[in-house]
Amino acid sequence: MTVMQTILMCEPGHFGVDYVINPWMQGQTGRVDRSLAMRQWQRLRDILAQLIGLAFVTPKPGVPDMVFTANAGLVLGGKVIVSRFRARERQAEEPYLRAWFAANRYDIADWPRNVAFEGAGDALLDRGRPLLWIGSGFRTEAVAAPLIEAALGCRTVALELIDPRFYHLDTCHCPLDGGWLLYYSAAFAPASLARIRAIVPPEKRIEVGEADAVQFACNAVNIGRHVILSHASDDLQVKLRRAGFLPVLTPLSEFMKSGGAAKCLTLKLVET
Ligand code: ARG
Repeated sequence: MTVMQTILMCEPGHFGVDYVINPWMQGQTGRVDRSLAMRQWQRLRDILAQLIGLAFVTPKPGVPDMVFTANAGLVLGGKVIVSRFRARERQAEEPYLRAWFAANRYDIADWPRNVAFEGAGDALLDRGRPLLWIGSGFRTEAVAAPLIEAALGCRTVALELIDPRFYHLDTCHCPLDGGWLLYYSAAFAPASLARIRAIVPPEKRIEVGEADAVQFACNAVNIGRHVILSHASDDLQVKLRRAGFLPVLTPLSEFMKSGGAAKCLTLKLVET
């Protein structure tokens, strides 16, 4: 069997902002343009389809955030930790996600029901070092990091998030191929920032300013040299190109109303 890189997505057939569980959703209830959301998602899907294999989980009514498959779980070496959502509203996604992983023959790791963990939204594999960056503070609990390390046998580095706008690690931290890191430093507690800077040397860090960060520039999907994202200023695009990457911009305004963009809408299924 050839191992193909695959990304899991979920069509926004039932997407909307129906409740508020992060600052971006405030004032957006019922304000999503559903047909625009569908077109934006299809454009992202079509861009990704040129670069990587795609798999899809069927959207279900009543769980509008299921479209954010980054939060479905964390996959590493054929094993998956299915997410345990902090918010009750999103816990309703869990049985559908578990069923999808089971039907697709993933080895589902045990996870304690009382520990919140929001999957690849808060757990990012470094692309140059054998380690998983784990975010906590708003969704995933700090105790998750050692549990993940035990379940998946991969070294973890815990990072504390302190800005409620950047409530998931993938909103402010994006490891890129070759050990590069695209990140927004103000989202991290000082000790966590020091940890990042002790691991990633200065010449491999791409600092994102606040103006780009609030446009979800760190919420990028990296496939080889391509970096697919909703927005990047000219300055940030230059920095990415200098580092050898090719920024591919595709607007995702309707998903930003829910606090997510490109990366949140994807889950890498083949990670080793
Ligand atoms: N409305 C969703 C939530 O607050 C957005 C999730 C975005 N996902 C992500 N991986 N950052 O849970």
